[in-house]
Amino acid sequence: MAKIIRLGFLGCGNIGGGVYHLLTEMHDEILARDGLDIQIVRALVKSIPEARTDVPACILTENADDVLSDPAIDMVCEYMGGEQPAARFMEAALKNGKTVVTANKMALALNWHTLHAAAARSGAGLYYEASVGGVIPIIRSLTISLEADRIDCVMGIVNGTTNYILTRMAQNGEKYDDVLADAQRLGLAEPNPAADVDGFDAAYKLSILSSIAFHTRVTYEKVHREGITHITPDDIAYGREMGYTLKLLAIGKRSGNTIEVRVHPTFLRNDHPLARVDGSLNAIYVHGAYCQDMMLQGRGAGDKPTASAICGDILYAASHLADPIVPSFSNTPDTDPSLLFSDDWTSRYFVRLNAVDTPGVLAHVADCFAARSISIASILQRPSAEGHAGIILITHEAREHALQEALSALRSDMVSVESMIRVED
Ligand code: HSE
Repeated sequence: MAKIIRLGFLGCGNIGGGVYHLLTEMHDEILARDGLDIQIVRALVKSIPEARTDVPACILTENADDVLSDPAIDMVCEYMGGEQPAARFMEAALKNGKTVVTANKMALALNWHTLHAAAARSGAGLYYEASVGGVIPIIRSLTISLEADRIDCVMGIVNGTTNYILTRMAQNGEKYDDVLADAQRLGLAEPNPAADVDGFDAAYKLSILSSIAFHTRVTYEKVHREGITHITPDDIAYGREMGYTLKLLAIGKRSGNTIEVRVHPTFLRNDHPLARVDGSLNAIYVHGAYCQDMMLQGRGAGDKPTASAICGDILYAASHLADPIVPSFSNTPDTDPSLLFSDDWTSRYFVRLNAVDTPGVLAHVADCFAARSISIASILQRPSAEGHAGIILITHEAREHALQEALSALRSDMVSVESMIRVED
């Protein structure tokens, strides 16, 4: 006897369309394989006359209550994007006992405790595999497969737009603004690209990943965030000359009671597995006491890959309605006060300076680092503008605060700091 599962959609754009197509095309196979008869019975859109969707017009509605309060709907799939009203709607659905499946990292990262509490009270499920890394099954891996381990590092390329831009800059020596404009023309970057290029999207995803990996709530506000808008082809070219590839990384590390969470452009050794993840691909590297190294790679966006992850959640949830997956940490509004969220992490650093080409300048540079116990691992000097030299160096491991102090001390009439990029080995 097939189990009938009735779905309501919140939003019905690109992702909703992908889910509709997958569930329509696969309906009979899913019925035969899993005994689930998945039916899409309602879809909330902003405006029915303006809706551009293949979903049948007869199930479209402009009234959220038609989805949230209809007792016939078992499960609500949210693809509205943005924090509100998506979070409010998901909370209402959970309070009404409906399982929620979402791809919305922003609404989840900012309202996870509220959604979690609503789900716990009603016994409904809350699933979000597609919220990080698109089709990459990282949420399930961390929540279930690696639950017994002690994860100390989760580090990934979790934004396809920025990876596409950096890859093209590296391959063709193109400037950031030119690649961004082209990516927007091709529909690969949003008309307002800030969420991607300023690192917000990656920071929401890191808040979710590191909360699960480190078994504690890591709120979005704790994530240090820098984007890629200041990166130049020169940075990428000099990094390559020194053996490194540039990526926008989301990095979460835990050592005892200290956690660091940061999103910023990062140089990786050319032979690091993440360095070879190009174009719009995503990949997430995990290190744990027992699992040691592992990496998952795949499509982080797009209607089909995202639909695959969402429908995986729908099927799992449909077969486990009475026993939903619940992360094992206490999902509090704030971080645990017994933990230290550090911004004085240890890293290696790539620093590009422009200096007046005169005796003593290099000694001044070396002094500023040496005075703060920062050791230089390699250095290049290249001619730049008339009478100036580009000095490019990579440090050994140093503390972030000490490095920032050294850069402040360096800045003078003689030396300008053109860029500072962290280096992960
Ligand atoms: N805008 C995101 C990216 C996809 O470029 O990867 C959705 O999270």
